[in-house]
Amino acid sequence: MSGVTAGEALPQSLMINKAAQALRDGCLVAFPTETVYGMGADASNPSAIQKVFTTKGRPSNHPLIVHVASPKELRQGQDDWVPVLARWARDIPEDALKLMDAFWPGPLTLVFKKGKDVLNEITGGQDTVAVRSPAHPIAQALLHQFQGGVVAPSANRFGKVSPTSAADVRTEFEGNSDLVIIDGGDCEVGIESTIVDVSSGDRALLLRPGVITPKEMLAKAGVRVYGPEEAVDAHAKPQSIPRVSGSLKAHYAPTTPLRLYAPGRVLDALTEFPDTKSRVAVAVWDSEFSLGDDGHPSAQFVEVGVPSDSSAFASRLYRTLRDLDEQGWDLILFPEPPTGEEWDGVRDRLQRACFGSGPSSSNHASN
Ligand code: TXA
Ligand code: MG
Repeated sequence: MSGVTAGEALPQSLMINKAAQALRDGCLVAFPTETVYGMGADASNPSAIQKVFTTKGRPSNHPLIVHVASPKELRQGQDDWVPVLARWARDIPEDALKLMDAFWPGPLTLVFKKGKDVLNEITGGQDTVAVRSPAHPIAQALLHQFQGGVVAPSANRFGKVSPTSAADVRTEFEGNSDLVIIDGGDCEVGIESTIVDVSSGDRALLLRPGVITPKEMLAKAGVRVYGPEEAVDAHAKPQSIPRVSGSLKAHYAPTTPLRLYAPGRVLDALTEFPDTKSRVAVAVWDSEFSLGDDGHPSAQFVEVGVPSDSSAFASRLYRTLRDLDEQGWDLILFPEPPTGEEWDGVRDRLQRACFGSGPSSSNHASN
């Protein structure tokens, strides 16, 4: 692994210069964003983009998000982002202008009709392109220094849990000496950006839930974003639904089997695992300090507290899954997230993680 890490105590500006040069040279740069670490490549260099797919083991028809620098000056006007998008989007609908004004830079990705020069390698051959401007200062510094778009999927092997620290990226790509990693500490948001498709110019559609919810988009930008269930009409013909790799049933998955339990039903979740020697890690809400007597005579439990606030939960989710996965438990149990839109992002990630979990998770993930 190349040595652009905080461990070497390079001054940050030098670190950013070195990483921007690596991008220009067609190399991959893992960098922090406010959501998760991304694996960046020059969005105008087809062979660099190809490296992203081979390094991650990601199928080439899964499109990538282009990351862009914010304008030098944000005047809080709705046109601030128009010049930034000129190279990427063919058409910028009214809803997109409002959403960018309210949430960019930040954990929101927008899908546009693509500009004519956007490479097919990025879009998987589709007529749309996903763009976001991340809020993390190191990501912004890198994008400004590089002066171009950077494609960046999460910096994990395909189907696995996304990384929220530089150490996670190192572990994931141990032995890959070509990957430059910028260490920017832990990611604050902790799950990937919300994705909204504005490409029809008509209805904005939610493609991936995240910490920015439709309710918030309505309240802060005055934009109504339709959920998948509301999009089932003539407008959304099956062939027009874009491919979203996060929409695979199995994704974000640990190698230890993971299951959810309903409130107070830890024992039910265990019936699937009758092995009397089971070592089980059970996540419990911080607010409910302990399982008490709800243990199981045939299993060895360890309790791990998880926050009962949705943002704090999201922020810790992948960290907790990775740590428990490394500790070699036979089974990990998580409480079912409560109903409510603010929990949709973590519920979505947890359900896919459950489905794909277990020793053969990489096989599930590519299904
Ligand atoms: O928070 C994030 O979005 C992180 C950080 C690094 O920015 N990135 C991320 O990238 O999650 P990735 O590649 O792991 O997920 C990107 C998602 C995929 O599910 C992909 O299919 C979808 O965005 N996507 C990309 N282009 C698209 C398009 N044109 N139409 C629909 N979905 C698209
Ligand atoms: Mg990903």
